[in-house]
Amino acid sequence: MTLANSHDRALRDRAAAVIPGGMFGHQSTAMLPDDYPQFFSKAKGAHLWDADGNRYLDFMCAYGPNLFGYGHPDIDAAYVSQLSQGDTLTGPTELMVALAEGWVAQVEHATWAIFCKNGTDATSMALIAARAHTKRKTIIRAKGAYHGAAPWCTPRPTGALPSDRAHQILCDYNDVASLEAAVAEAGDDLAAIFAAPFKHDAFIDQAEPDLAYATRVRELCDQTGALLIVDDVRAGLRLARDCSWARIGIQPDLSTWGKCIANGHPISMLLGSEKVRKAAASIYVTGSFWYQAAPMAAGLETLKLVQNSNYLERIQGLGERLAEGLKERATAAGFGFKVSGPVQMPLFLFEDDVDLRKGFCWSSAMLARGVYVHPWHNMFMCAAMTETDIDQALNAAEESFADLKRQAPNLAPIEKMAFLAATGLR
Ligand SMILES: Cc1ncc(COP(=O)(O)O)c(C=O)c1O
Repeated sequence: MTLANSHDRALRDRAAAVIPGGMFGHQSTAMLPDDYPQFFSKAKGAHLWDADGNRYLDFMCAYGPNLFGYGHPDIDAAYVSQLSQGDTLTGPTELMVALAEGWVAQVEHATWAIFCKNGTDATSMALIAARAHTKRKTIIRAKGAYHGAAPWCTPRPTGALPSDRAHQILCDYNDVASLEAAVAEAGDDLAAIFAAPFKHDAFIDQAEPDLAYATRVRELCDQTGALLIVDDVRAGLRLARDCSWARIGIQPDLSTWGKCIANGHPISMLLGSEKVRKAAASIYVTGSFWYQAAPMAAGLETLKLVQNSNYLERIQGLGERLAEGLKERATAAGFGFKVSGPVQMPLFLFEDDVDLRKGFCWSSAMLARGVYVHPWHNMFMCAAMTETDIDQALNAAEESFADLKRQAPNLAPIEKMAFLAATGLR
């Protein structure tokens, strides 16, 4: 089974001439199997079409933004209607106030909101607000946790200065001793502790937050006066209708959101509790497009669906069926196959697969059958997925495990994943 890809290949050639490296950032397919398409043409509901017209059931959901289905009619109608009224204006519309009111009512710890565009805007603003509030410099974050692509947090710091990344201490997620050591090292200069809602690093199994760890993060912030920042950019709204750590009883001081809060329309936000309001009002944060009205209209419609639909229970139920069904089929085919993390944001990894050669082979076999899975990044369920979609994914998985079984003895090493052996991550 080979997919048509001539248009994709031609676009890659053109891109190579005018886009450095042919593509940049997290949507580059450079680290994916070679048959993964780089360019797409359209999407609807749970499905995505590549530039050559191949259709996929999409478990990446645009890396998170697609929560209610691509092109959701009500959300997009609100967006289009506001576009006809005005979008980028000399100042915000009343939608900004309504959206802030909506989120403040929805998220328990929040009493204010600042809207921006990307998750990195929100996490960087959280950092600045925490430093402004505490008048201290040092932050603690977990090794391997992604908080965006700004110089202070980019995982590939080429071009960043040591000073951009100064005043940061890394600890191990879910490891209380390492957290306490980091807090001790920060001394009286601790401004904030960043926390991912769960451990959702690439290339390794995901892990739920250990309650003892999360509780200790909160206690240490309270003892030192530092702020607890939950980075909900990726997981927000897929684990809870509130901040993700609310479900384990921990309230942050700041939380950062993006991706799906307007179902793919460009808007992100920083939410904060009352004690940080004054500092938040004192910092200078802005952008030409931060006040756009149309994404705010889409955001309000998305919030209505969060409040009034069973989307969360739906993605949990479908995710459960997918995870269980995959594990059964993998076991039947004789593979150690791990589905880690919350079922609505699963990550699939094979056991004994350091350079991901099994994962690449299986994922390519899924792709060829019209199911887009990722071999080393967590995936995302969306509410537009149906039981029939899950059946399709499970049937494709069964056939793909059989393909893998046939090919397993002769799989070549994956050179682009050779670095994983050296990291000791796997
Ligand atoms: C946890 C987390 N924080 C921050 C970001 C940065 O968001 P953005 O890519 O919208 O800047 C991401 C993006 O994947 C993320 O997963």
